[in-house]
Amino acid sequence: MKNVLHIISSARGSRSYSQGLSSAIVKKLTDKRLVNTIVERNLAADFPPFIDRALIEVFYKNPGTMSNDDHLLLQYANAILNEIKNADFIVIGTPVHNLGISAPLKAWIDQLIRFGVTYGYHSDGQRTGYLGGKKVFLAIASGGKVSDSDGGSDYTEPYLKSVFNAYTGITDFCTYRIEGTASPDFRENYEEILKNL
Ligand SMILES: Cc1cc2nc3c(=O)[nH]c(=O)nc-3n(C[C@H](O)[C@H](O)[C@H](O)COP(=O)(O)O)c2cc1C
Repeated sequence: MKNVLHIISSARGSRSYSQGLSSAIVKKLTDKRLVNTIVERNLAADFPPFIDRALIEVFYKNPGTMSNDDHLLLQYANAILNEIKNADFIVIGTPVHNLGISAPLKAWIDQLIRFGVTYGYHSDGQRTGYLGGKKVFLAIASGGKVSDSDGGSDYTEPYLKSVFNAYTGITDFCTYRIEGTASPDFRENYEEILKNL
């Protein structure tokens, strides 16, 4: 049985297609009786703090030299780190916004990735991630069709794969897309998108 972390990052609440698709993924996993616990973190309802100068300095401090104030600054980062550590499956919903991921999701990643915590370096200089062995399901919603030449490329999937791979060691990805949501006659069909899950 697996623990699921469900990350929602669209501001559109119940009208969001990425949220609809990520929720349908969680439901499918649950229906298959694969799931033990589900932790939901809605980044649009509860925005991650942007990293600032003080937090960046704490990120690079030796834990042994940290003050109480430093620990307070790390509260959000530590909370989301524990959530991801406890998860076997991470289901991430994101809209395509200006060819990239949503701003709250980027802020969450900036809080999550930490030298010495999610990744480090071997003595030979090789970087290694410390959170490997987890599986990520991506649920990406776009107004256009990414496959259309004039629909524009999108950097969501390659970015998410690259950043998790490089700085967490998570390499197992399964991507589902809901595309063309801006078309006037668009109708969602999550069942069809997830038929192979
Ligand atoms: C600020 C903004 C930027 C967007 N940029 C793109 C884009 O670059 N490419 C695209 O295909 N759709 C773009 N869209 C359309 C959204 O991807 C589309 O509405 C999608 O359904 C949003 O996901 P959601 O329903 O989960 O909120 C954009 C929408 C907004 C509001």
